[in-house]
Amino acid sequence: MACASTGDTSASLAAYCAVAGIQAIVFLPRNKVSLAQLIQPLAHGALTLALDTDFDGCMALVQEMCARHNIYLANSMNSLRLEGQKTVSIEIVQQFDWEVPDWVIIPGGNLGNVSALGNGFLLMRDLGMISKLPRIACAQAERANPLYLSYLKGFREFHPIQAKPTLASAIQIGNPVSVQKAIRILKEFDGVVEQASEDELANAAARADLTGLFNCPHTGVALAVLFKLVERGYIKRHDRVVVISTANGLKFPEFKIKYHEARLADVTPRYRNRPIELPADYHRVRDVVLRALDARAASLH
Ligand SMILES: Cc1ncc(COP(=O)(O)O)c(C=O)c1O
Repeated sequence: MACASTGDTSASLAAYCAVAGIQAIVFLPRNKVSLAQLIQPLAHGALTLALDTDFDGCMALVQEMCARHNIYLANSMNSLRLEGQKTVSIEIVQQFDWEVPDWVIIPGGNLGNVSALGNGFLLMRDLGMISKLPRIACAQAERANPLYLSYLKGFREFHPIQAKPTLASAIQIGNPVSVQKAIRILKEFDGVVEQASEDELANAAARADLTGLFNCPHTGVALAVLFKLVERGYIKRHDRVVVISTANGLKFPEFKIKYHEARLADVTPRYRNRPIELPADYHRVRDVVLRALDARAASLH
């Protein structure tokens, strides 16, 4: 089985293939996935091809390889991936005590998640398990925003673009394979598409980290879009909103470290936190701790 991947699909495919004793072959854009992502397919024994191209280039090559050589393509143009992902919607509704949220916000790259989650809700509606549908917001990085551009034109046309490098590397995709499925779902779910800049996504992710959720840049894109839609009045204060967090922050340590070191291009870190280096001296330590606690207490008043 083979896939093209921006890092996470390949990790999953490699793990499941390892369980099943099947050879996984993964096509990755060289130097465009994090080290923590790269190590997973390697550790699980996948044949890992790091190619001098972007995700869209990997996608074209794996499609040709699979079409010619009887290898199963595990990306979302085949049903395996999208059918499995439908269960996310079922879990959302189950965890909401079988009520449907008002909004679901989903980071979108190849647009499999938008299509699959939508289909999961439609399945539950057709089975009579739920009686309404949520609105869906697809969140794109401003540097990889072909669906956003199409949305601005009422989805009347769609043009693939050359995606630019973004911190949200897993959604750096200019020619999403599931675009037509996603547009159909967005039309049916009264959907919107919004985008987030590098500064917005990095600060949104850092703000969410402060709640105890260590999240990834793609989740940051979705959260930045949440804040925008609330500000704009699309999402009302009493609405119940689910934001899909697509990866753990531990997969993107460089993004996290550089944020707090203020070393990310085009990002002004508003939630920066730095270690305070001190000698192991009780009085010095005490002074720093008490001053910090006083400052916090003052800021809360
Ligand atoms: C971390 C992460 N976020 C978001 C996405 C985007 O999902 P989709 O390609 O289904 O739009 C991916 C896709 O692999 C991902 O790995």
